[in-house]
Amino acid sequence: MTSHRSHWHILGAGAIGSLWASYAVKHDLPTTLLLRSDERLSQFKMAGGILATLAGSAELLPLAAESCEQNGPPIARLLLTTKAPDSLSAVASISPRLASGACVVLLQNGLGVREELLKLRPDLQCYHAVTTEGAFRPAPFQVVHAGRGRTLLGGGSNDKALARELSVGPLVVTPDPNIEQALWRKLIINCAINPLTALYRCRNGELLDNPQALQQLHGVIDEALCLAPHLQLGDVFDGLREQVLDVVANTALNRSSMLQDIESGRRSEIDYITGYLCRVAEQHGIAMPINRQLLEQLKALPGQ
Ligand SMILES: NC(=O)c1ccc[n+]([C@@H]2O[C@H](COP(=O)([O-])OP(=O)(O)OC[C@H]3O[C@@H](n4cnc5c(N)ncnc54)[C@H](OP(=O)(O)O)[C@@H]3O)[C@@H](O)[C@H]2O)c1
Repeated sequence: MTSHRSHWHILGAGAIGSLWASYAVKHDLPTTLLLRSDERLSQFKMAGGILATLAGSAELLPLAAESCEQNGPPIARLLLTTKAPDSLSAVASISPRLASGACVVLLQNGLGVREELLKLRPDLQCYHAVTTEGAFRPAPFQVVHAGRGRTLLGGGSNDKALARELSVGPLVVTPDPNIEQALWRKLIINCAINPLTALYRCRNGELLDNPQALQQLHGVIDEALCLAPHLQLGDVFDGLREQVLDVVANTALNRSSMLQDIESGRRSEIDYITGYLCRVAEQHGIAMPINRQLLEQLKALPGQ
């Protein structure tokens, strides 16, 4: 039963974008990958598609793809899976193709991109999605589905239909009328874990063995809890400290994406994680010395 499904374009053919595109093609959701340049598109065609390892064994999936440098048919549904700092320039590159009032689902970590996009294109219907699916890209145009999770989508009146459309195979997307709460919880978890793993160049679990890092981790959470009453999001931060510590323990062997970005000199998502938290805190007149120091330390690293 796919007749109700619209055509989706996926912008950001990395781990998460390729994961969704791979399941989409296997489950008959009409999907086109948008690659950053004609050169990338040629490389993609040479590779023959995406080599996807979804449930243990790899298979080459010949997905439809287009270059952001070329014109093409209008885009009515966009799944944005670039990293946060690349989002604005990526969407700007395809803006002439984005239909007026197009639905854009931001499936990425961090906050602040929605506001930037709506300044560029106030007509867009921007939704947020939060996922705990895990994927990595061993090489360009390859993806491994490394961990099953869950995905929430919300932010507008069409969230039920969009969630249904983007549910492909085991990637189940659930509409969430309180998506702001999920976004904030994820933001604080990221604020507590990612910058510290990048700063101490350690795996998530090693934060628990480093007294200085652990003290900072609790400090990040204490500061975030001071902001809670100002956000009018109900009991969103209840149990947050326990949740952060659970995530650290459950992902003890993981190297965070921020650590990987810093180590490879790529721009990290710090401005959209700790940076976003500090900006909102400032608007409410709340000091966040520990988060601000982490932000400054991360921003001083090469490539940031
Ligand atoms: N990976 C996970 O397990 C996971 C889980 C939860 C959340 N997330 C979040 O999901 C988001 C995506 O993560 P990811 O791991 O998929 O990142 P990724 O592998 O680095 O993929 C990002 C993709 O965006 C593309 N891109 C960047 N600028 C572009 C532009 N101007 N035009 C077209 N494409 C552009 C990159 O293209 P090139 O290949 O050409 O550089 C890359 O393929 C992040 O916010 C991340 O924090 C990831």
